[in-house]
Amino acid sequence: MIIQPYDDGIALARALAVRVCAAIEERPHLVLGLPTGRTPLQFYEQLRGRSREQCADWSRVRTFNLDEFVAVAPGAAGRYRAYMQRELFDHVNLAPGHIGFLQGDAPDLDAECARYEQAIADAGGLDLIVLGIGTNGHIGFNEPGPSLEARTHRTRLLPPTRASNRALFDDRMEQVPAEALSMGMATILHARQVVLIATGATKVSAVAQLMTGPITTELPASFLQLHPDATVMVDAAASPR
Ligand code: PGA
Repeated sequence: MIIQPYDDGIALARALAVRVCAAIEERPHLVLGLPTGRTPLQFYEQLRGRSREQCADWSRVRTFNLDEFVAVAPGAAGRYRAYMQRELFDHVNLAPGHIGFLQGDAPDLDAECARYEQAIADAGGLDLIVLGIGTNGHIGFNEPGPSLEARTHRTRLLPPTRASNRALFDDRMEQVPAEALSMGMATILHARQVVLIATGATKVSAVAQLMTGPITTELPASFLQLHPDATVMVDAAASPR
């Protein structure tokens, strides 16, 4: 695992945008896993700010987002799909048919998870996935606990995770969904390259444990220690001393 420290979130976001754009240039059919949350906002801003000349053509890229809430109305601003439209999809020339997303309002959620897993496999697997990390060490919505799920699944969100998503739902906890669909640990770990990004002092403990602690289901991000090509990008505040 490689750690890359940056002075601040902007420098980190810029470096990540450069890396992703270079990956697209090298492989126009890149299959890219993407996160939501506060941490990647500056990264998406950097991507939006790049002209076509600066960032390779997205027309053949495929994306798969990590997770989505269960049972949030199609038009709701809190949906991760809505976040991605606002932050990235509306601003680059990704083909709508190349956007992979979990449907949290599908009639059969188990079938939806199986469909998603198959769609990623049919695309040839993820070439590169960008991940955030929860203060509790979750990646995607793989929450800490006595066991973890390998594949895309339905999951119950823990209180800290619901709290950190409150802003998406008018700051009202009762509106934050209790459940979500998420890529599983194997879905993530089978990506050829993994980049985890962490900014701010609230992440420093999770980052320290991820890098040097035991590999444990109680800190799902610790499994990245097993990945042959994992990079952890941190700003100064999230960087363990
Ligand atoms: P955050 O979420 O970027 O909003 O802190 C990260 C995560 O929960 O994966």
